[in-house]
Amino acid sequence: MKNIVIFASGDGSNAEAIVKHFAANDSIKVKCVLTNRINAGVHQRMESLGIPTYNFPKEVWCDANEIVRFLQKENTDFIVLAGFLAKIEIPIIKAFTGRIINIHPSLLPKYGGKGMWGHHIHEAVIAARETQSGITIHYIDEDIDKGEIIFQASCEVLPDDTPDSLAERIHALEHRHFPSVVEKLVNGLD
Ligand code: GAR
Repeated sequence: MKNIVIFASGDGSNAEAIVKHFAANDSIKVKCVLTNRINAGVHQRMESLGIPTYNFPKEVWCDANEIVRFLQKENTDFIVLAGFLAKIEIPIIKAFTGRIINIHPSLLPKYGGKGMWGHHIHEAVIAARETQSGITIHYIDEDIDKGEIIFQASCEVLPDDTPDSLAERIHALEHRHFPSVVEKLVNGLD
């Protein structure tokens, strides 16, 4: 059995898509979700799916050694960042090199880096009059949004798009592709 642990800070729609994708899988399981926001919608979504969530305060995420110990105790094989909006500190990256990925709602390297998350990205994409946006799934390394790209998919940006309507199209793209990319990567672990 391979165990996935998801990190999330927000609504948790990607976490939900991943949990549902693996629900009938006998060899890969979502073990739990770790958060940095006690009020994040992901807690409620996971409760209704029977997946435990654990919230850790900022100091614990910053030191990160306690997080590594927790992940080891949970026999974590693979970490998926699904809307996790805090920096991943070095101890976690070192303990899970090549086994920690993120989804980003733009076509990296465009619209990546500090301050570029969620609606800020969609606002910037619309302000720049881009005609295409999309999603990027990439490995996590020490530089924010700069890890090796694993997968990208694009969608149109329409002339009358608002950040919300673009976010909706991007979310649909994420839910369609993210779970199967995770499955492929976990199947490829030793
Ligand atoms: C997703 O669109 C994800 O790509 C984005 O946050 C959203 C979370 O939605 N992540 C980032 O912006 C990371 N830089 P969800 O909570 O419904 O899965």
